[in-house]
Amino acid sequence: MRIAIGCDHGGIVLKPAVIGVLESRGIEVKDFGCYDENSVDYPDYALKVAEAVSCGECDKGIVLCGTGIGISIAANKVKGIRAGVAHDEFTAEMISAHNNANVLAMGGRIISPEKAAKMTAIWLDTPFQGGRHEGRVAKITAIEDKYFK
Ligand code: RB5
Repeated sequence: MRIAIGCDHGGIVLKPAVIGVLESRGIEVKDFGCYDENSVDYPDYALKVAEAVSCGECDKGIVLCGTGIGISIAANKVKGIRAGVAHDEFTAEMISAHNNANVLAMGGRIISPEKAAKMTAIWLDTPFQGGRHEGRVAKITAIEDKYFK
């Protein structure tokens, strides 16, 4: 498995811990930056991660900003991306189980690196439940199909 990761200056504090979890599982990590705490624009990094997942170069993606919100909004503008913000263990589980999120978003000003590591593991280990959620996710795809030209 290959996972794309991207962050801005508000999310970079979480990146080492998150990459640590991925590498400890033998997952290949494609790190699209940023690489220091200088101020950058989160849509630039959301786009790199989202494109890597959308085109199949990476299986999943992780995006990190101050809240997880801006970078997830930007990632969700790319076709095929279902980015969900998680802020605790429960939401990390649900975005996979119910929403089949292929991109996990977290906020460096919201959670600790330790919590982000734990949530990353939960998101990876939780399968999509399918069933009634299958149809709902299909409706999200139908919205994409209607508006992406
Ligand atoms: C950057 O200051 C901050 O706005 C960004 O990291 C993120 O929280 C946006 O949603």
